[in-house]
Amino acid sequence: MKTAMVDGIELSLIDQGSGSPVVLLHGFPLDHTMWDAQIEALSASYRVIGPDQRGFGKSRQEAAVLPLGSTITIARLADDLAELLDLLGIDEPVALCGLSMGGYVAMEFYRRHRSRLNKLALLDTRSDNDTPEVAAGRREMAERVLCEGPRPLVESMIPRLFAESAIPETVERLRRVMLDNRPNVIAALLLGMAERANMTAMLAEIDCPTLVLVGELDAITPADEMRGMAEAIPDAQFVCLEGSGHMSTMERPAEVNEALLTFLAKS
Ligand code: MLT
Repeated sequence: MKTAMVDGIELSLIDQGSGSPVVLLHGFPLDHTMWDAQIEALSASYRVIGPDQRGFGKSRQEAAVLPLGSTITIARLADDLAELLDLLGIDEPVALCGLSMGGYVAMEFYRRHRSRLNKLALLDTRSDNDTPEVAAGRREMAERVLCEGPRPLVESMIPRLFAESAIPETVERLRRVMLDNRPNVIAALLLGMAERANMTAMLAEIDCPTLVLVGELDAITPADEMRGMAEAIPDAQFVCLEGSGHMSTMERPAEVNEALLTFLAKS
């Protein structure tokens, strides 16, 4: 993996392949490995950039750098990406793909840095912000994670991340990634997601080709909600993967690869 200093933080990233740039933004509290199958498939034809976003995976931030109780906002992650692209010398527009929290960052990036992307793929995500109840639950969970570590969050999320048909080794692999993330980072992003902006009104203004993809059985960002997002975006294609849960990139790698490659190849 490469590293790049972004806003004083060392970010680790995959930068593989050559051709038009495609950026893959992971979900919460994960790292770039949730895109392993897509990195492999897409880098045969594209330059694939897969950062571990601030604090996650190998872009780890210890408590000395990120004090307990800090917030990492979705806007900060979007601006990190713009700075990262500058550092990599990428000034042409990218195709930006984000899953779940990565989708929140992708929509925020669209709002803040419109000229820097020419295609958007939103996977298993939502445009609405948190209801007050959901935001309060995140703040409570942030406190808990700071006291008890990531396990309570991880064990509450895992059953909702995958469909029952998911391969147990795949689930285990993701559980290890989640448990390995630092409590201060997990808590900081829970607080950041709780205060993120509502992007639903912006959907009608998205003027680049957009892929909206969801697992039929997604328990976190339901398929009906994502179909509604696709209907609101003028140039959107909607793909629903039968039998998949929220982690579509890991549960249905071949189908997600095919959907992304077809979408990216369209002019
Ligand atoms: C994710 O998969 O990134 C999270 O479930 C997003 C969220 O908690 O809203």
